[in-house]
Amino acid sequence: MNDKKSATGPLGVESLFSLRGKTALITGGSRGIGLMIARGFVEAGVKVYISSRKQAVCDEVAEALSHYGECISIPADISNEDGLNTLANEIKARESALHILVNNAGATWGAELGEFPASGFDKIFDLNVKAIFMLTQTLLPQLEASASTGDPARVINIGSIDGIKVPMVTNFSYSASKAAVHQMTRVLAVRLGGRNITVNAVAPGPFESKMTEWMLDNFQDRIEQACPLGRIGQPEDMAGIAIFLASRAGAYLNGTVIPVDGGLAAV
Ligand SMILES: NC(=O)c1ccc[n+]([C@@H]2O[C@H](COP(=O)([O-])OP(=O)(O)OC[C@H]3O[C@@H](n4cnc5c(N)ncnc54)[C@H](OP(=O)(O)O)[C@@H]3O)[C@@H](O)[C@H]2O)c1
Repeated sequence: MNDKKSATGPLGVESLFSLRGKTALITGGSRGIGLMIARGFVEAGVKVYISSRKQAVCDEVAEALSHYGECISIPADISNEDGLNTLANEIKARESALHILVNNAGATWGAELGEFPASGFDKIFDLNVKAIFMLTQTLLPQLEASASTGDPARVINIGSIDGIKVPMVTNFSYSASKAAVHQMTRVLAVRLGGRNITVNAVAPGPFESKMTEWMLDNFQDRIEQACPLGRIGQPEDMAGIAIFLASRAGAYLNGTVIPVDGGLAAV
């Protein structure tokens, strides 16, 4: 790479950002942020598996996305061991190698201080933290099978800017779970780098979804005023970062937490 020819010759920028021929699993791919990433991946030529609990919705979305490429639905509840194993076993039965795992499925819980129930921690940590770790661990052989030094397998965890700065809403277990996702990303990145698997996190700011419906209905103006770019995130913003992280262009990122938030976390 140091000789004069490679330093000045063309990089092949199109192939640098290409995902063609790769296979991905996106948890929570049936709506919101997961669907934004699934749309981007399918259009980029990735064979995409999406998973979520509601079978009819998951099947319907996979069928709609299949008009632009290949999208397959595997419904499962990954907050419990049986559901998580169902999903992992389906992937193992269909694919010997998995290039990209997007750990996106997540939930939130809001309650005031003094009224926050213990169950609001168990539910959120089971899905937002434990399921990410267990699914990644279970699919390591498939990720490793796709990995090479120049083009490692990618694990992309969806964290949140609520795990970076103190949120305006009282979502105690959620913000703690997202900080945990960010730290788990760094820990796994160090452990898995030597096996040619990178682990990075995206920390989204506000994007339109079922999860943020109430917040945006009530506070979108305030959020946009606080945001240096003066707007909420758009599907292209989320698809763009995921495509970059999954492509050869993102091959040297490992253990990062990338805010995609118009600068909100920096305020
Ligand atoms: N939207 C934002 O502004 C924002 C900001 C920061 C971070 N995030 C993060 O982005 C991720 C996606 O959030 P979103 O806003 O797109 O939320 P959303 O619209 O509520 O979507 C959540 C997705 O996860 C699935 N899901 C929920 N529980 C599940 C379970 N137990 N097993 C399997 N799938 C499950 C849902 O489908 P089913 O209900 O059918 O299972 C759905 O596909 C989350 O990790 C969230 O914390 C979002």
